[in-house]
Amino acid sequence: MTFRDRLRALPSFPPGLPPFGVDLDDLDSAPRTPQELFTAWFDDALAAALLAPHATTLATAGPDGAVHARTVVLKDVTDTGWWFAGHATSPKGRDLAANPHAALVFLWRELGRQVRVAGTATSGGPEASAADFRARPEGSRAAGLVDHQSEPLGSREEYWSAFAAELDRTRRDPDAVAPAWTAWTLDPVEVEFWQASDDRGQARLRYRKDPSTTPTAWTKELLWP
Ligand SMILES: Cc1cc2nc3c(=O)[nH]c(=O)nc-3n(C[C@H](O)[C@H](O)[C@H](O)COP(=O)(O)O)c2cc1C
Repeated sequence: MTFRDRLRALPSFPPGLPPFGVDLDDLDSAPRTPQELFTAWFDDALAAALLAPHATTLATAGPDGAVHARTVVLKDVTDTGWWFAGHATSPKGRDLAANPHAALVFLWRELGRQVRVAGTATSGGPEASAADFRARPEGSRAAGLVDHQSEPLGSREEYWSAFAAELDRTRRDPDAVAPAWTAWTLDPVEVEFWQASDDRGQARLRYRKDPSTTPTAWTKELLWP
């Protein structure tokens, strides 16, 4: 079997997928905000014991239009948006400083579900960023203090020695915060919920808002699969 054949033989989803969880014939009955539907779907992901349902793909673009994507973990969902964190000095941080447009994609394949969140990311400020950093486990704080993320590394030994020094510092000063650590909130202009079903009739529900006119009113609409 060729590689191509093996790819084609793979199923995308298991059988027994859940329903959308919203009456798609009556969108008025759907949650008023995408935050509410997202947290309901997230609870389903937790109930199904999915591995790392909070892992999400973050797409950003630099000032030259080049697009970059990587995995981050979701830190919170609030009225202001979807929260994630990292170094402002990393490529993602530089992209966001130059161009705040960003998108997140959650894939919960065991449930046949995808959620796409698109909008603009802004820093939550020094207090939220420091609080996020301090809530990380000790080893993650030490790794965060090492910084230099995504710069070329001469050798693994160089990293381990920098990590050991920062671990030592973290133990001496548990409140130490990496200066560039930033918690961003992605304030969405649209959030799309996608559900596969056993009969292949994918369903899509999109929430959209126009921040210039109605910053808190969401329009709900179905999309062709
Ligand atoms: C499951 C998983 C979770 C991750 N979570 C984060 C995160 O929350 N923040 C972060 O900065 N990097 C996280 N990373 C590492 C990023 O994917 C990426 O390698 C790193 O942030 C450098 O990205 P950049 O060069 O585009 O800035 C995670 C990676 C994986 C696989």
